Amino acid sequence: MTLTRKRIPPLWQRSPWRQRGTVESVTAPEPTGARVRLRAEIAALPPYRQGRPAPADGFKLSSNENPFDPLPSVQAAIAAAATEVNRYPDATALRLRERLAERFGVSPDEVIVGAGSVSLLAQFILAAAGPGDEVVYAWRSFEAYPGLVTVSGATSVQVPNRADHGHDLDAMADAITDRTRAVIVCSPNNPTGVAVTADEFERFMARVPSDVLVLLDEAYAEFVRDEASVDGSTLIGRYPNLVVLRTFSKAYGLAGVRIGYAIGPVEILDAARATAIPLGVTGVATAGALAALEADAEVELLRRVDALAEQRTRFRAALLEQGWAVPDAQGNFVWLPTGERTAAVADRLFDAGFVTRAFPPDGIRISVGEAESVDTLLRVLEELVEPSQEGHSA
Ligand SMILES: Cc1ncc(COP(=O)(O)O)c(C=O)c1O
Repeated sequence: MTLTRKRIPPLWQRSPWRQRGTVESVTAPEPTGARVRLRAEIAALPPYRQGRPAPADGFKLSSNENPFDPLPSVQAAIAAAATEVNRYPDATALRLRERLAERFGVSPDEVIVGAGSVSLLAQFILAAAGPGDEVVYAWRSFEAYPGLVTVSGATSVQVPNRADHGHDLDAMADAITDRTRAVIVCSPNNPTGVAVTADEFERFMARVPSDVLVLLDEAYAEFVRDEASVDGSTLIGRYPNLVVLRTFSKAYGLAGVRIGYAIGPVEILDAARATAIPLGVTGVATAGALAALEADAEVELLRRVDALAEQRTRFRAALLEQGWAVPDAQGNFVWLPTGERTAAVADRLFDAGFVTRAFPPDGIRISVGEAESVDTLLRVLEELVEPSQEGHSA
């Protein structure tokens, strides 16, 4: 093949070092036009998209973050831990595991801590599923699931949500085959907000073979106010194939330091420990989590969660009143099923100063953020409602 393009030397060849002759012996390989061979399914993955930053005086309601500033005691604990960052952390987070184990009535080995529960999800999926295997989950659900499954080499089996935007657990159980290695249940479901009920979950578990791992992702558990909802903390020790995942990112306001945990049978957790990237959990993150679990701190944090849950309930009620078909909302967010209008509505919200998460062509997820965002948000949304919305689910 004849290359006719003019070859521009790489930067290092043009550098003063080369002119001084210090790297004369290095010969640059001729470009062959060949690309590095990446795994095709990975190269095809969309790169992670983080929400747009909020405009000045606007509100970032796109990442289900906690709008409250970290408590002074939590900030102080993080600052104190920062004085030791020249050392590697105890990435097994033993003190935190002991604290959580005490709370959930298990041994520390039945608790695993990760750099956010998304890291733990990745570890469990890698531990259970590989090429040729399948992982079943509802769709639409947490946008990280498809990528995590693809990275493991396994295949996603996405089961459409019911008309009320909740998991169709019967259909999910039907989707389990000999190839299924894991099922993810997200309750409350991100982004639609609907929680799985305890009864539904029990019936589902009765149908799942005991050698198929069930990951119950409860990232928003603390915001749930419907007492019929499943509560993973009451199911610990009951099923040999169940792992319950929770996080400090949402209710505990620690999204920035990356810390989450899971509780389940030791054998499964050990497998997830084996697939972890070593030393992922930092001392700073562990210190923040331990400080957040101190009695006074936790009372205040859960009071904030109450305020956010109330704000969510009022926000949803006002939206229903306006005519929006908002499904039940048990997380710190609400779901607007805007369908084909999704991008247009999200753009109008952005122009009005609200960054939301648009999932075209399904809908828009709006996080429950600063209390002062609500009135303006409702005024803007009132102008955008269409009377005949599909899938009305009041
Ligand atoms: C359903 C669900 N699971 C897990 C996570 C991951 O949370 P983190 O990695 O911050 O603990 C999120 C974050 O948005 C989520 O929505």
